[in-house]
Amino acid sequence: MQVEFRKIFGRDYEAEGRAPGRVNLIGDHTDYADGFCLPMPLAHITEVAMASAPAWRAASLTNGETLSFDPDGPARGNWTDYVAGSLLELKKSGIDVGPVDVLVRSAVPQGAGVSSSAALEIAVIRAGLALTGQMMADDEVARAAQRAENLYCGVQCGILDQMACAVGRSGEALLLDCRTNETRRIVIPPEFHFSVIHCGQERHLVDGVYNERRAAVEKAAQILGVAALRDATFGMTDQLEDQSIRRRARHVVCENDRVLAAVKALEVADAVRFGALMSASHQSLALDFEVSVEALDRLVSSAVRAGAYGARLTGAGFGGCIVVLVPQDDVPAWWARVSRENPAAWPVQF
Ligand code: GLA
Repeated sequence: MQVEFRKIFGRDYEAEGRAPGRVNLIGDHTDYADGFCLPMPLAHITEVAMASAPAWRAASLTNGETLSFDPDGPARGNWTDYVAGSLLELKKSGIDVGPVDVLVRSAVPQGAGVSSSAALEIAVIRAGLALTGQMMADDEVARAAQRAENLYCGVQCGILDQMACAVGRSGEALLLDCRTNETRRIVIPPEFHFSVIHCGQERHLVDGVYNERRAAVEKAAQILGVAALRDATFGMTDQLEDQSIRRRARHVVCENDRVLAAVKALEVADAVRFGALMSASHQSLALDFEVSVEALDRLVSSAVRAGAYGARLTGAGFGGCIVVLVPQDDVPAWWARVSRENPAAWPVQF
């Protein structure tokens, strides 16, 4: 990125940081209930180059913008908030990067549910650490990035995205216990082939509804008298009188069980079982948690009709991507069938 940095800022950069996007194989809307998730990093990377400067400026090679920002001031409602919030979190943990020029190049699609914002936050923190010669463990980087998103950007996300992007390794799924932040790496068997397909519809209205769902999940835990829905059982959710809260809680409780069952299936390379759990997860996200949209439902149905073991929306929902477990020897033929039925869909990762 030196050439681009020089062109935009007139000198060389001094430090860089990078992080991948992620796809969540199963376990959505469980992280903020202290539950389990099973993400895997994508091959797509976000890179950040940084150099000390007289003022704060950030440029993006993705949209061609160069904007000023100020971590000590309020959020501005654009992509530089992820940069500012992350640098502010570093400062709060005693690492004051000072004014910098920042250049961002990202291959992680935005608004697709594959954590472009977490990848950016983590790449910024890593560049800031490199610039100041400081070290931080990967899970600490993830927590700082989550705080940036919660406190500066105002999105009440859990820890899934940041942990997946900071700690995940390619070729491995990461079982994440969102209560303890403990992780377990599970090598993806060679016969498991996950494709990530965008439904053609960007995510929309997501922050407000996301915060609403999170509030319903927390309300359910409060009514049931547990610290988080992680501690509730399926039987307990039946006691919830409010129908909508009961369905939200049922999703979380069953999704946690599905994640643990999926890990077992992955460990014994049982693609049929893993696929069935993915499809059940999608049904639950669509019917009980109500975060799907027609384009996602249609794509999931065609993916399975065309021969996949299973498919589900991935991430927060409301548009963006699905993840599919496809028979490895059949990917091109499978995609030909799916794309015929879903002309707006496009592959993020085959
Ligand atoms: C978004 C949030 C995550 C998680 C998922 C849903 O990606 O950032 O914390 O809640 O939605 O699983």
